[in-house]
Amino acid sequence: MIVLGIETSCDETAAAVYDSARGLRSHCLYSQVATHAPFGGVVPELASRDHIRKLIPLVDAALASAGVTPSDLGGVAYTAGPGLVGALLVGATVGVGLALGWGVPAVPVHHMEAHLLAALLEAEQPAFPFVALLVSGGHSMLVEVAGIGRYRILGETLDDAAGEAFDKGAKLLGLPYPGGPELARLAERGRVGQFRFPRPMLKAPGLDFSFSGLKTALALRVRDLQASATLSEGQRADLAADYQQAIVDTLVGKSLRALEATGHRRLVVAGGVGANRILREQLREDLSRIGATVYYPRIEFCTDNGAMIAYTGCQRLVRAPAAYSSVRVEARPRWPLDELTEP
Ligand code: KG4
Ligand code: ZN
Repeated sequence: MIVLGIETSCDETAAAVYDSARGLRSHCLYSQVATHAPFGGVVPELASRDHIRKLIPLVDAALASAGVTPSDLGGVAYTAGPGLVGALLVGATVGVGLALGWGVPAVPVHHMEAHLLAALLEAEQPAFPFVALLVSGGHSMLVEVAGIGRYRILGETLDDAAGEAFDKGAKLLGLPYPGGPELARLAERGRVGQFRFPRPMLKAPGLDFSFSGLKTALALRVRDLQASATLSEGQRADLAADYQQAIVDTLVGKSLRALEATGHRRLVVAGGVGANRILREQLREDLSRIGATVYYPRIEFCTDNGAMIAYTGCQRLVRAPAAYSSVRVEARPRWPLDELTEP
């Protein structure tokens, strides 16, 4: 089964080809970062318009680079949600249109399920069951994954997502968009332990997160320091290092607790924040201490990509081909993960 995957849920246009027999055959991506940077965030209408311009050429490139033609395809998978509705509609209409024209089924894919399963694209694959820490710009959750479509949400953020906490922290430190990787870069030059920030909800029981208090703590700290003088480069780096450490400690602490609560020995980290080096190192260290293993998608598949959409679409199509016989364009800006069922 060879499946074309299309991703347009936010500010990345991506297409990829996954082959159930040979694995990932190609993946192409265009990032709109430069388009949105002057506005300090994603402008939905600009995102939709840019997806329209870039998607078809990317599909052509993904097919050519995989060495396949439309007649080799068994289906077209597209991100149906959650995400920006206009952006989703571009991928959905193109995906369904191509599928219809090529006479193959169209498979609407849940973006967060695709993030959850992205680690399965790697040679070092986690076996089911595992706990997934899903940390992106829009979501932070811990999920028990018993198999494809068998998800139980263990904990979620009560306010900001972890990626949002990185992005908002970066803005407070005067860093350009997109803030997460910029803050991580600045933190590399800083010292941990100069400023004390709360580890939100780490002491509270349960597996939920909350990051808005941490963001407020940083805002107050920046305001206090700036009252006497402009922030020095060293102070900004130290603030970034301690702020990042507070987020990482919280994510690691809750992940360990989720493993303990479920009895599972495998943790999969997914979503854009999974690209964070300190988080990756600390999880590897702390999990090995308790005899558990952490799995990651390669860095480029932590953030949005087409490969995870092609993979997830292929898995569902192989297991339940009859579910994708009707022609329907699906775009669901809100789509809770636990509404998904086993294929
Ligand atoms: O999964 P993703 O690409 O898009 C969403 O579906 O949200 O995640 C993007 C998020 C952004 O908030 C970005 O700042 C964050 O992931 N991010 C990082 C790093 N790389 C991306 N946060 C911390 N450290 C990084 N290295
Ligand atoms: Zn994402």
